[in-house]
Amino acid sequence: DGSQPPKALRVILAQPRGFCAGVERAIDIVERALNKFGPPIYVRHEIVHNRHVVEDLRARGAVFVDELDEVPEGAWTVFSAHGVARKVVQAAADRTLPVIDATCPLVAKVHAEGRRYASQGREIVLIGHAGHAEVEGTIGQIDGTVYLVQTVEDAEKLQVQDPAKLSYITQTTLSVDDTRGIISALKLRFPEIVGPDVKDICYATQNRQEAVHHLAALVDLILVVGSKNSSNSNRLREIGTELGRPAYLIDDASALQAEWFHGVTKVGLTAGASAPEVLVQGVIEGLKQFGRVDIELLSGTPEDVKFKLPAEVAEV
Ligand code: F3S
Repeated sequence: DGSQPPKALRVILAQPRGFCAGVERAIDIVERALNKFGPPIYVRHEIVHNRHVVEDLRARGAVFVDELDEVPEGAWTVFSAHGVARKVVQAAADRTLPVIDATCPLVAKVHAEGRRYASQGREIVLIGHAGHAEVEGTIGQIDGTVYLVQTVEDAEKLQVQDPAKLSYITQTTLSVDDTRGIISALKLRFPEIVGPDVKDICYATQNRQEAVHHLAALVDLILVVGSKNSSNSNRLREIGTELGRPAYLIDDASALQAEWFHGVTKVGLTAGASAPEVLVQGVIEGLKQFGRVDIELLSGTPEDVKFKLPAEVAEV
C-alpha cells in the first residue's frame, strides 16, 4: 500500500552538528572538578540542556540543584553554561561558596554588552525566550530596564521611556531569520535603536542552522538529536519544518518511530550544540532496524573555536 518502511535509507549528516565550544568547556569543567576535588560537585541548573549529559555526570557524582540554597556550606559549586544573574553570584559570595563559573564566554559577552548599553543610560530590549535560563541570567546581569521581546508582535507593541536612548541584545541560540525580523520591526518603530544585529547569536547556532538549510534541500525528513529544553536544538527542528520537511527532535535512538519513515528514502541527521556525538551514532544504528543505511557527510563551515578553562580547573 506504499506505506511500508523503506528497505534502504540514505542518511545525510549535517556539518557542523553537535557540541559547541561552550558546551565542551562546561562539561570539561564539571569532569575536572570531579577529578580534582572529588564528588559531590554541585551544579546550579543543568550544566547544558541535554538529558544524557546530565545523567552521565550525575552518575559520576555531580548534584544538580535549581537554587543555591540547596548547596551545603563550603561545597564546590559550578554555574551552568547558560550564565546566572548577579544576585546568584552575590549569594554565592555571601556564603563564601567555592564557585567555578561555566558560563559560556559568548553568553558573558552578551552580558557585558548589555551592561555597557545600560551604563550609557540606554534601556535594553532583550530578544529571547521567556523562562530560558540564559534569558533570566542576562536580565539579572544588567542594572536598568530590560524589556523581553519574543516576537515581531511584541516589538510592535513595545512601549519605552525614551526611543532615542534604546538598545537591543539577543539570546545566543535564537533563529537567525526570526531574529532579523524582530530587529527590523524594532528599527521601524525606534529608528535610533542600537544593537549588534544578529552577531550575538553565537557562531555554533549560526553554523548549525545554516547546515540544516543545506540539509533540508536534500532530504525527505530531518532528525535533530537534542533534548526538549534545548533552545538551539528546537530552532534546528523549526527550520526543518519551516522549509517543508517533517522534522523531529529526539533525545536518542529509542525515540525513533517506524511510521515517520513511510515513503522516506533520504534522512537528514543533525544534533543540537548540547547533544553528544555518541547519540548521533546511536541514531544511525537505530535506523538500521528499517533497512540498509548508507551514510553521506555534507561539507560545511569548519569550526576550531576553543575557550580557555577557568583557573580553578585549568590544571588537574
Ligand atoms: Fe556558547 Fe553558543 Fe554553545 S553561546 S554554549 S557556543 S551554543
